[in-house]
Amino acid sequence: MDHSFKGKDIISIKDFTREEIEHVLDAAETMEPILSSGSEMLGGMVLATLFFEPSTRTRLSFESAMLRLGGAVIGFAEPKTSSVEKGETIADTVRVVENYADIIVMRHSLEGAARLAAEFSSVPVVNAGTGAEEHPTQAMLDMLTIRKELGRIDGLNIGLIGDLRYGRTVHSLAYGLSLFDVKLFFVSPEVLKMRQEVVEDVRRRVQVNETGQLESVLPVLDVLYVTRIQKERFADPAEYAKVRGVYRITRETTKSMKEEAIIMHPLPRVDEISADVDETRHARYFQQARYGLLLRMALLALVLGAID
Ligand code: NCD
Repeated sequence: MDHSFKGKDIISIKDFTREEIEHVLDAAETMEPILSSGSEMLGGMVLATLFFEPSTRTRLSFESAMLRLGGAVIGFAEPKTSSVEKGETIADTVRVVENYADIIVMRHSLEGAARLAAEFSSVPVVNAGTGAEEHPTQAMLDMLTIRKELGRIDGLNIGLIGDLRYGRTVHSLAYGLSLFDVKLFFVSPEVLKMRQEVVEDVRRRVQVNETGQLESVLPVLDVLYVTRIQKERFADPAEYAKVRGVYRITRETTKSMKEEAIIMHPLPRVDEISADVDETRHARYFQQARYGLLLRMALLALVLGAID
């Protein structure tokens, strides 16, 4: 089977088949020994990280991944995006940066920004998050976490909990998981329900259950994927105030969960998982961040043609 990722843009999880995603996850597993041994497989190559929105894990894990594979990193991390939010400016930025780097990883508050950048760039572009739209490499690392921690993805009941409207990670993850034999549970308050276009799309492949009541589905879930209410994406602060803290996972909550069920979170968390959950057998969010490094090492190596 031809899985060639060389030169490919990574823009939407919807651009990939199940086989292709599994190929990336397999490649991520081969990166584990390199974490300690190091490698020069991307020696002489340069990664540019263009972050128009705040980030800790995504940017640092991409940069660490590149450095661990012998490559170099340039870029910027600017939380203030107001002066660069015009489509044309993205195009110009990319046409400049492509001269300096072999691959571009970009985060932007505008939906469609990564796709636009890829159209103008002669080097591959990786979407590190576009507005509330998508975050495909997060979805891949989330799937890697589930596969590593539970041994499989097929057959699981997976709950996406919290801000399903503005959370981009849950959009990409729902699409990605729907390529597997899973049951999805979308748990959110009415105003933060999963985008209709996502629900309609994933329903064509898997069973979807939408509810506002976390307690009613807790006992059947194998994975609780908890998300932060995306405060920065609310047009009206009063709307945010109404849903703030709507779900809070505590040690008490875990008593209604399956013994083997795991709790994930893309991080950063605010108050949706209390610190006393960290020591329970269910918590996997810090491992998840580590899998992100392996996944991004694999993606860089695949797209830059160092591995097949
Ligand atoms: C997420 C994001 O930026 O979408 N963070 C991440 O990349 N791990 C989640 C969030 O900000 O809530």
